[in-house]
Amino acid sequence: MKKYDNVVIFDHPLIKHKIAILRDEKTSMKEFRELVEEITTLMTFESLKDDVPTVEKEVKTPLETCTQTFVKDNSIVIVPILRAGLGMVNGVHVLFPSARVGHIGMYRDEETLEPHSYYCKLPKGIEDKLVLVVDPMLATGGSACDAIKLLKEEYGCTHIKFMAIIGAPEGVSKVAEAHPDVKIYVSTLDRCLNENGYILPGLGDAGDRLFGTK
Ligand code: PRP
Ligand code: URA
Repeated sequence: MKKYDNVVIFDHPLIKHKIAILRDEKTSMKEFRELVEEITTLMTFESLKDDVPTVEKEVKTPLETCTQTFVKDNSIVIVPILRAGLGMVNGVHVLFPSARVGHIGMYRDEETLEPHSYYCKLPKGIEDKLVLVVDPMLATGGSACDAIKLLKEEYGCTHIKFMAIIGAPEGVSKVAEAHPDVKIYVSTLDRCLNENGYILPGLGDAGDRLFGTK
């Protein structure tokens, strides 16, 4: 895959270890859900390190008063792409408990692989926030591209980041080129897509594995 300035691939050994278990078809729904949350927390820690909104406040220690940095976590909005993105929300909330959540519902047509939007509910004032769009799977890139386009064009969002656990080269390139102003974080880059648009080796259908729908 071409190198993009707006793409970060983590390839961290701890994340790789968790993804290896996530891929295993024998991993239970409960363990799958927990791993998605844990991986998301690790990704969030790294993805937001340069632009976590902060505020300086005074703290009185037993010895003196000093100025300290606090996180303004109400200036972040988490936007999961339904369904599978829901599995990542708690993983971000562990670090940013007051972050609001907006939902964008998208499903891929099984034949054409085109995304269809069926739901959108976002917090008021989202245009002034750092918007963290989350979806475990970045396959063709259609769903992520459309969700980001919606946030920009209909809601005026200007500061958007996108996090996916597994990306296919096709999807990463598509989002990186369509939205050069959006920083994309992917834990691991897989080989390719199969003829049905599934990521190989991948982990199967993330929504089905998270919610036990198969
Ligand atoms: C999955 C996944 C992404 C999308 C990725 O959702 O969670 O949203 O596919 O594919 P793309 O990059 O080719 O658009 P799906 O459409 O299966 O819906 P679901 O989460 O409700 O199962
Ligand atoms: N959506 C998934 O859940 N898995 C894939 O491999 C591709 C899209």
